[in-house]
Amino acid sequence: MKAKRRVVTAVTPYKRRPTVRKIKPAIAPVVRRPPIERPAAEQPSNGAGAGTAAGGGSPVGPASASRAVAMHDLRSSDAAGDQGAAVALSVDLGRGLVLENPILVASGTFGYGTEYADVVQVQRLGAICCKGTTLRPRVGNPTPRVTETPAGMLNSIGLQNPGVDAVLAKYAETWAGWKVPVIVNVAGESIADYTEVARRLDGVPGVAGIELNISCPNVGRGGLQFAIDPEAAGAVTASVRRATDLPLLVKLSPNVADIRPIARAIEDAGADALTAINTLSGIAVAPTRQRPLLGNVYGGLSGPAVKPVGLRIVYEASQAVRIPIVAIGGVTELADVLDYLAVGAVAVQVGTAIFADPTLPVRLVDQLAAECRARGLSSYASLIGTALPKKAAAPSAKGVEYRP
Ligand SMILES: Cc1cc2nc3c(=O)[nH]c(=O)nc-3n(C[C@H](O)[C@H](O)[C@H](O)COP(=O)(O)O)c2cc1C
Repeated sequence: MKAKRRVVTAVTPYKRRPTVRKIKPAIAPVVRRPPIERPAAEQPSNGAGAGTAAGGGSPVGPASASRAVAMHDLRSSDAAGDQGAAVALSVDLGRGLVLENPILVASGTFGYGTEYADVVQVQRLGAICCKGTTLRPRVGNPTPRVTETPAGMLNSIGLQNPGVDAVLAKYAETWAGWKVPVIVNVAGESIADYTEVARRLDGVPGVAGIELNISCPNVGRGGLQFAIDPEAAGAVTASVRRATDLPLLVKLSPNVADIRPIARAIEDAGADALTAINTLSGIAVAPTRQRPLLGNVYGGLSGPAVKPVGLRIVYEASQAVRIPIVAIGGVTELADVLDYLAVGAVAVQVGTAIFADPTLPVRLVDQLAAECRARGLSSYASLIGTALPKKAAAPSAKGVEYRP
């Protein structure tokens, strides 16, 4: 039996219209990806709502069917005011969320955007993913919360934030006046939490989309992270999908053995796009060696150290789903952007590197355009998926890298 692709979203009578950009791609998606094979043995056994549970291993067709890169007349050289041929950099992340370019800033590393407005041309970013936002205010984790690591950092901020109502009261009006779309990163400890935050964001001018941070403990399931379980990941996505018509991005955790069933469950539950990766779980030891260093013991590893893991997750997820993937993890230069595009991402987010150089993301926009011009490309679309196999490859979960 063919799997249902989408969970139908319920429409509540009182719902306001979301203020998302309604620009339609001028030209059909051009990116080709290998056919997605969903062998019965690899279907998530527990499913994700009706969609996944109905899956029967039938191929779902070429991934290019829903690809995101569209050729708009938004030309990078116009925006940058620089010389040379125009390059199409715009990207459609679904449900009308069309970004002028594929360079975003990652949640937790760029505040609410306003903090950087004096030093960065924020309107030139593809989008801003704001700090993690929860239903109620959170004070965050005990200190210390951050430490450096070789080629990265560990953080355990603990989602410190004033809560969704305060965030909207303080920033939404400013965001509504911005050209750059602001995607609100949402966190919670129960499906009800996530759903209620989404409801409050729905229809608010200035909120262009939602990025679900599902790397949170699911209190209803004894603290098991939503992100590591296909059923839980699908269930929270489906519930949020029913609560809002906003473009919905769901952020994958790298702390799993096999990303593919989780990515599929999220797609089947109605997400418009995936973002990957969140931080890798780690610890540091205090100088006295008497205890772990971070107040919360565990932290999330980010920065250049995680890029190979991010590449693997994007590579594998790209072969499993048809919705667009936005890559995150260790981007510090143009080569990192090109690598992520090559393994199937349609856009990238810059995170930890912003702490060292907040102007990096905007520079990457110009560098990507210049790279396309140097290669004689009128669009960056042909850089996407070039390192993907023609047929779905064996995933790392099969132990391919350890095969004698
Ligand atoms: C200090 C800090 C805070 C973060 N806060 C959030 C958050 O609130 N929500 C979220 O989804 N990801 C959060 N992240 C994860 C980043 O968005 C990103 O996924 C991760 O850092 C990997 O990208 P990078 O290596 O470029 O930093 C945070 C990362 C850092 C370093």
